[in-house]
Amino acid sequence: TRKNISTSNHLRHVESMASLPSGAGKISHLNAVILGEALASEEDDLVFPSDDFSRQALVPSPDKYLEMYKRSIEDPAGFWSDIASEFYWKEKWAPDVYSENMDVRKGNIKIEWFKGGITNICYNCLDRNIEAGSGSKIAIYWEGNEPGCDSSLTYSQLRDKVCQLANYLLKIGVEKGDSVIIYLPMLMELPIAMLACARIGAVHSVVFAGFSSESLAQRIVDCKPKLVITCNAVRRGSKVIQLKDIVDAALRESNNYGISVDVCLVYENTSAMKREETKWQKGRDVWWQDVIPTYPTTCAVRWVDAEDPLFLLYTSGSTGKPKGVLHTTGGYMVYTATTFKYAFDYKSSDIYWCTADCGWITGHSYVTYGPMLNGATVIIYEGAPNYPNAGRCWDIVDKYKVTIFYTAPTLYVTHYSRKSLRILGSVGEPINPSAWRWFFNVVGDSRCPISDTWWQTETGGFMITPLPGAWPQKPGSATFPFFGVQPVIVDEKGVEIEGECSGYLCVKGSWPGAFRTLYGDHERYETTYFKAFPGYYFSGDGCSRDKDGYHWLTGRVDDVINVSGHRIGTAEIESALVSHSQCAEAAVVGVEHEVKGQGIYAFVTLVEGVPYSEDVRKSLILAVRNQIGAFAAPEKIHWAPGLPKTRSGKIMRRILRKIASKQLDELGDTSTLADPAVVDQLIALGDC
Ligand code: PRX
Repeated sequence: TRKNISTSNHLRHVESMASLPSGAGKISHLNAVILGEALASEEDDLVFPSDDFSRQALVPSPDKYLEMYKRSIEDPAGFWSDIASEFYWKEKWAPDVYSENMDVRKGNIKIEWFKGGITNICYNCLDRNIEAGSGSKIAIYWEGNEPGCDSSLTYSQLRDKVCQLANYLLKIGVEKGDSVIIYLPMLMELPIAMLACARIGAVHSVVFAGFSSESLAQRIVDCKPKLVITCNAVRRGSKVIQLKDIVDAALRESNNYGISVDVCLVYENTSAMKREETKWQKGRDVWWQDVIPTYPTTCAVRWVDAEDPLFLLYTSGSTGKPKGVLHTTGGYMVYTATTFKYAFDYKSSDIYWCTADCGWITGHSYVTYGPMLNGATVIIYEGAPNYPNAGRCWDIVDKYKVTIFYTAPTLYVTHYSRKSLRILGSVGEPINPSAWRWFFNVVGDSRCPISDTWWQTETGGFMITPLPGAWPQKPGSATFPFFGVQPVIVDEKGVEIEGECSGYLCVKGSWPGAFRTLYGDHERYETTYFKAFPGYYFSGDGCSRDKDGYHWLTGRVDDVINVSGHRIGTAEIESALVSHSQCAEAAVVGVEHEVKGQGIYAFVTLVEGVPYSEDVRKSLILAVRNQIGAFAAPEKIHWAPGLPKTRSGKIMRRILRKIASKQLDELGDTSTLADPAVVDQLIALGDC
């Protein structure tokens, strides 16, 4: 059903869009929506923002969006340099606002924004806002795992803490360009550590504190950090997780690869574990509380080039080895700040809560940098969303009077007022129309527009997203591109398809927040993202565009699964499974999961003579937990005495996906298999 229909604001005539640049050509389909009252009344699926909302919105109408979008495509240099000028630059970029080669056929891929511009993102997050009078504004409200355990920091207090840590880092010899691994849960010390690195030009690499010691070691070996920052333990729900033990094991493992880390800075998280109980390596381990408060609360900023690296964030791909996605300073700064501002229609009075962990890109761009660049008040929650009960998230929303709530479409319950909310955000996986309606009607009381933001670790910030206030929304659609972004849908030959269609989602041209390389492997960067469809950045996602130009994300088209908003490559899970001494072969697929978006479903073949049993099943799952982390543990282990393979030995995942999702009448042609009988055998074993 249609909600809050406004006839005056949106169904207005918009100037002819014939003059739109090619990238914007597709949005001319919007004509139908904007122009056609007739269409709107026929079209039950359109959900309009209320007049009241639109009136106060930064982008109050489709025509305002079109005007800004058009300029961003026709004159990217002018558009982005105007926005960038709102930040502090010690020296302005020169000679060009940007330069790019996005086409492998023309040479190496290279993207640069604001090159020659000298700035510092920590300065722009903290000092700039403090100087503008926001020093006493709350930067972070921190909510602990246990209800009633909380604290907060103003922008000035946050800067003091960042400076103390930055001074310590300098003291132990961390220099510009050095990498620092941060393995922390959602304590305030996590954004503090990120900002301290940024302040001195060090490159942070946050590793989600749910990753196992093996995964952490792999990242340590890849980026060779000057130090690791962690805490002794954390409480998540009713569990205590001893992070320091995991770090110890990772550092031992890294040593085996010849990588030794001299310093491990450990925050004493007293609510989880006392320091006396923490295992300690003298000479290497340092208690945060013993040293950091002794350092001065001011620290000169290290000015860096816009193209100097800001951070590395490892993410899964379709092969086993995680990729170190590298983001640089200036473009990322301008892009995260701008996307945050517009997609959440940010006002300085907002209280903003993004439930993501800083161990993922969402926590980088939309817990730390994007909001803080806007001087926003953010909430950081240490615990599990359902602890001590399923209403915890809504308790937090009510406690802090959250106005913007950004989450993965995975949480959820009812029964709280949530009156403070004005905007909802969704990320990480396609949100289906019924989940969308639930989020809209129940959580948002049919009042709050939903920003369904499509983007990726690689893109740095939102790429396709509604601008609340501007768009009539369609439940389940991420709607239209952000300013400066030219999404393109191509067929399997890489030919761009116009109009209503579905295919592979690519992007034409660069945008300021784009990643610049994969750390230490530019060739893999080019091969993975730019060679599949020459001339474009390939996202790995499928997408369709409807007759009105709305974009509908359909999920990954490669061997990557999105579980509860976390991306994980099937190859990584398979390699963890086959590391188990009794596992001969494994094939992992994603299946639809009511709560998690996608669930992990593993077919395993055991070594000859080993019978399948409950113990084997459990130990296979344990192998994945140990090698990657609990979040990657398969939901289902399906014993497979044989796997469906082509005559050349390639596993037919298409068939496995159908078996896993019990779509047995859609198996398709199985006659090309080396042994078609394995399919029936697998189906028969499905429930064991
Ligand atoms: O498949 C898309 C899905 O998440 C992938 C990116 O994962 P990651 O780099 O871990 O970043 C997650 C947070 C940005 C994408 O390739 N995805 C992300 N947002 C959406 C989405 N799928 C559908 N709708 C979204 N809004």
